[in-house]
Amino acid sequence: MTGLEKAAAILARKGGRPIAALTAYDYPTARLLDEAGTDVILVGDSLGMVVLGFPDTTHVTLDHMLHHVAAVARAKPSALLIGDLPIHTYDSPAQALESAKRLIAAGAEAVKLEGGIDQVETTRMLVAAGIPVCGHLGMLPQHVVEEGGYRKKGKTPEQVAALLRDGEALADAGVFAIVLESVVPFVAQQFTAAMPVPIIGIGCGNDTCDGEVAVVTDLIGSFPWFVPPFARPEADVAAEIRKATRAYIARVTDSSTDH
Ligand code: KIV
Repeated sequence: MTGLEKAAAILARKGGRPIAALTAYDYPTARLLDEAGTDVILVGDSLGMVVLGFPDTTHVTLDHMLHHVAAVARAKPSALLIGDLPIHTYDSPAQALESAKRLIAAGAEAVKLEGGIDQVETTRMLVAAGIPVCGHLGMLPQHVVEEGGYRKKGKTPEQVAALLRDGEALADAGVFAIVLESVVPFVAQQFTAAMPVPIIGIGCGNDTCDGEVAVVTDLIGSFPWFVPPFARPEADVAAEIRKATRAYIARVTDSSTDH
C-alpha cells in the first residue's frame, strides 16, 4: 500500500476498530512493533527526550528527524509511518512544504504538525501536494516553554470551544487524523464524537478516543527517569538491561573464572 492508501485506511477507521499507534525512533524497534501489528508508527519529536537526552522537544531539528525517520523506514513497516515536523520547520506554509518533502524523501509516509486554525493554510498546501497530514491538538509539547510546563487542556468552556473550532478547521483542511494530547477525558470523548476524522488520544483517559498513541519507551519501560502519570507500561526493559549488564560485568570481571 502507498502512504496515501495507508492514511486513507486510517481515516476509514473513524468510529470503527480502535487505532493502535506507537512511537519508534530506530530500525529494530520499528521492525518489532510492525511485526506485532501496530497500525501506525510515529517518529515523534519525543525523540528529543527519550533518545537524544534533551529536556523537551524544542531542541529537535529537522536533521535529527531525518536521521531517525530514515532508520525506521529501513524496517519497511506495513504500519503507516508518520514523521513529526519539529518546531520552527513549519513557521510558514512554504517552509512546511519544504520540510515535509524532506521527511517524505527520508521515508515518512505522512507528517504530523501541532496547532489548529493557525495551521489550516499549511495543512491545505501539504494535502494538495499529496502529503497526508495528521493534526495534533490539546497540549502541544512544542509550546512547553511559553506555557511554562505541560498543562492539561479542556478545563474551561473557552478551551473546549477552541478545541472544537481547531478540530473542525483541521478536518476541513484535510487531515486524515488528529492526535489529542492531555485533554480531560470527558472533553476528549465529546471532541471525538464531534469530529469526522479519527482522534488518537494520549493522556486523555481510556477508551475516550478512536485510538491511542503511546511513546514506546513508556510502554516498554525503557526510560525510567520520567514516566508520565497516564503511562501503562507492559514491560520493564530498564530492569532487564540493568540485570543483563550486571550479569555481564560479573562474568567478565569474576576472578574465579578460568582464563
Ligand atoms: O512526539 C511524540 O511522540 C508525540 C506523541 C506524544 C503523540 O507527538
